[in-house]
Amino acid sequence: MKKDTVVIKIDEENIKDEDLNKPAEVLKEGGLVAFPTETVYGLGANALDESAVESIFIAKGRPSDNPLIVHISNESQLSELVSEIPDHAQMIMDKFWPGPLTLIFKKSERVPLKVSGGLDTVAIRMPKNNIALGLIEKSKLPIAAPSANTSGRPSPTNSDHVREDLDGKIDMLIDGGITGVGLESTVLDLTGDIPLILRPGGITHEDLSKVLGHVEYDPAIESMKDDIKPKSPGQKYRHYSPRARMEIFSGDLDALVEAIRNKAKKYAEDGLKVGIIVTDETKDKYREEYLINIGSRKNLSTIGANLFHVLREFDKLNVDVILSEGVDETEIGKAIMNRMKKAAGGNITYVK
Ligand code: TXA
Ligand code: MG
Repeated sequence: MKKDTVVIKIDEENIKDEDLNKPAEVLKEGGLVAFPTETVYGLGANALDESAVESIFIAKGRPSDNPLIVHISNESQLSELVSEIPDHAQMIMDKFWPGPLTLIFKKSERVPLKVSGGLDTVAIRMPKNNIALGLIEKSKLPIAAPSANTSGRPSPTNSDHVREDLDGKIDMLIDGGITGVGLESTVLDLTGDIPLILRPGGITHEDLSKVLGHVEYDPAIESMKDDIKPKSPGQKYRHYSPRARMEIFSGDLDALVEAIRNKAKKYAEDGLKVGIIVTDETKDKYREEYLINIGSRKNLSTIGANLFHVLREFDKLNVDVILSEGVDETEIGKAIMNRMKKAAGGNITYVK
């Protein structure tokens, strides 16, 4: 059934108390509200209302075994949602919440299995965005919210992206401008002996190691084949995908520019429309027609902030193939390359 999606605009720096009344009402009545966070837009529903949660899966076309993150605005909400809080979890929350870090806990009975995708754990995060925090507070509810995109598409970093995917499928959209980080939160599992990063994101391995000492990545993150089952079900799906086929080139800068230009020439000869993702440091070396500059290698957070938008822009240009420069997998570069590799279905060439 088609819905009339109401769009309201809120300035994060200047929120009036009454701004959040309507969206909080919609959530309390079991409706769906898309809202900005510091990472990407989320599609929110009351996490304790099974039928509201079910409608998130329907609106997104999301597989039912892919669990949702529950968003809170205050640590006091944890006691109703989780059955235990490990000691090191408290240190991590003190340091990184609110912020782009999701923690996996053993879940309480209260959390519906629909939210956890049938698992006995639950993912929780406190977002660092005043609209998101205000909305959670006003509704007095824990809010289940996946990224507000159609399942498989690049996550939304502005309200137009949400509209492209979900207009007519959700009750309300809060337009709060462009999200800052641009990549989804880091997912960290603290339920085992060794802290495990299930999805790299805004809070890096380096950041977490400083607090926790030894931290590992889930080995499935690196595997592009189906040989290892990821602990985070969402990581097994083709994801963040533009409509065009994508290929990544990584390594020495001059060599990768040359490799991309050769590939672009070959595809153009085959009659394909080719888009190229370039960086501040390389943009002047290209002569091709469809270039988008994604940001600076000296400030990788600019690339993280732009990635999903650039993928959607190339869809609008209707290119057949996207050739993308890769970046160093240090700090936030790890998360950028994780999303790029998923978007490219693992198609990456290392050049020297
Ligand atoms: O930044 C973000 O995290 C955004 C904003 C809206 O908060 N949300 C987001 O949600 O990215 P989503 O649903 O697109 O991704 C959630 C990820 C999925 O990969 C899912 O499999 C994983 O978290 N996840 C959720 N619950 C889990 C659990 N209990 N165990 C392991 N992984 C879990
Ligand atoms: Mg998502």
